[in-house]
Amino acid sequence: MRRKLAAGNWKMNGTNASLTELQTLIATHPAPGVDILICPPATLLVQAAGLSADSPVMIGAQDCHSAASGAHTGDISAPMLADAGAVAVILGHSERRQDHGEESALVAAKISAAHAAHLTAILCLGESLAEREAAQTLDVIADQLRHSLPDTATGANTVIAYEPIWAIGTGLTPSPAQISEVHRFLRSELRARFGSEAATGFRLLYGGSVKPANAPEIFALDDVDGALVGGASLTAADFSPIITALENA
Ligand code: PGA
Repeated sequence: MRRKLAAGNWKMNGTNASLTELQTLIATHPAPGVDILICPPATLLVQAAGLSADSPVMIGAQDCHSAASGAHTGDISAPMLADAGAVAVILGHSERRQDHGEESALVAAKISAAHAAHLTAILCLGESLAEREAAQTLDVIADQLRHSLPDTATGANTVIAYEPIWAIGTGLTPSPAQISEVHRFLRSELRARFGSEAATGFRLLYGGSVKPANAPEIFALDDVDGALVGGASLTAADFSPIITALENA
């Protein structure tokens, strides 16, 4: 059985003052029926990990370098994230792919680095609006999955988040049928590559404008094991009902 996962990506938002939201979340969900992960900016990792140390809420990061250490000014390695208290790291987010020109080969190297540091990698993939309109969605997803996912990936060390670029931060979401189509496709691609049994272990998240209002419908879908949430993870008031919807799914 895959344990469901509600993951929050704070992106480039949050200062010390935002940690009260994390404290509220921890207090609201003392014994959650799902995994809860908050990925604050790197500047808050140590404090966030400290605050959540005696709680079920886990802390993750948003990116890492592919090397363990070295002359890479401004970068942070996977062992450093683990040392700061992170247990997971988001990799291949479309904002990294777009803003920093990250290609799938680099994402694969970063995922390998995360695995070597015993971090769970959350691989993000998804199509642009132009690709969807050109009926290329599944081709794009297959290509990203093939080239971003290293052979070391297992259901225990890797989570996959389907995040259509046009749904991120826009308030738009795919139809339930569109989400289901991609998640079914992801599972079949994983089966073809890793075998049926191993493929069953990978958790598949949906991400892109998940809100308290649409979460129940999304979580009711087969093969949706949770969500990667951006904007609605910034406050406990928004993220908490999403966690509850996942528990009740
Ligand atoms: P959003 O972001 O929930 O604000 O659309 C999702 C994401 O980018 O992970």
